[in-house]
Amino acid sequence: MSEQEEWHNSPVGVFDSGVGGLTVAREIMRQLPNERIVYFGDTARVPYGSKSRETVTKFSRQIVHFLETQKVKAIVVACNTASAYALEDLEKEVEVPIIGVVQPGAIAALAATRNKKIGVIATEATINSGIYNRYIEKSDSGVKIIGKACPLFVPLVEEGLWEDPVTDEIAGRYLTELVDSGIDTLILGCTHYPMLRSTVAKIMGNGVTLVNPAYETARELKTLLLEKGLESEHRPGLGTELYRFFVSDAADKFQRFANSILTYGILSAKVINIDEF
Ligand code: DGL
Repeated sequence: MSEQEEWHNSPVGVFDSGVGGLTVAREIMRQLPNERIVYFGDTARVPYGSKSRETVTKFSRQIVHFLETQKVKAIVVACNTASAYALEDLEKEVEVPIIGVVQPGAIAALAATRNKKIGVIATEATINSGIYNRYIEKSDSGVKIIGKACPLFVPLVEEGLWEDPVTDEIAGRYLTELVDSGIDTLILGCTHYPMLRSTVAKIMGNGVTLVNPAYETARELKTLLLEKGLESEHRPGLGTELYRFFVSDAADKFQRFANSILTYGILSAKVINIDEF
């Protein structure tokens, strides 16, 4: 196999603060079935959503260094918080193409809104960074953006309470002001929130379009790989591992969650010491 062909068949690196980025990996698996994936979930240091820019950037940089050792041909920052805080720095440091989840989500929301009122729900860090506002206002300064941090959504999803009266109650409290604000589009700006899609949809009503950045990110990755001539043309042959999973702690818990949301069973996730990178 030529060096060029080998590079085509290299995996895409996908990382997140933990299990949430699997919603992005799942979309990549659906939309780009020929691509191999190396996934890293920082399960030892999750959550990122309550940490500082410096810390999230330091963690993200270590993960990128690890993914480089896996010879990835492109990197997807599947975590909204890491995309908000670290992507700009990483873009300057990494040689392979790197994309985050925020810009694709912002573009999709702009395309969806009719009344130019867009809501964003995300972690505290993502909301405080103002990153969705920046991307959206750069394209259309006439759009009104209403952000709301929903910190309890992440633990609710990780506890498996995707459709539960407790989740309904908390979502009702978080989302009331967004319902009252008259938005017609809502960005699910955190990796975990697509799992709460039906709860959020029930509260927001039919008139509000929900944007899942995971879906848009997979589409952007597809375009990027095509543009750069990096797409893998065939599904890797038998004996080649299509997907590999690494975590910084608690591999069993990660595997259980992965098996509840992916359409096939993952056999193992390997623990690595991310501080070495
Ligand atoms: N992955 C994070 C995000 O999308 C949510 C979990 C966390 O706070 O680390 O922002």
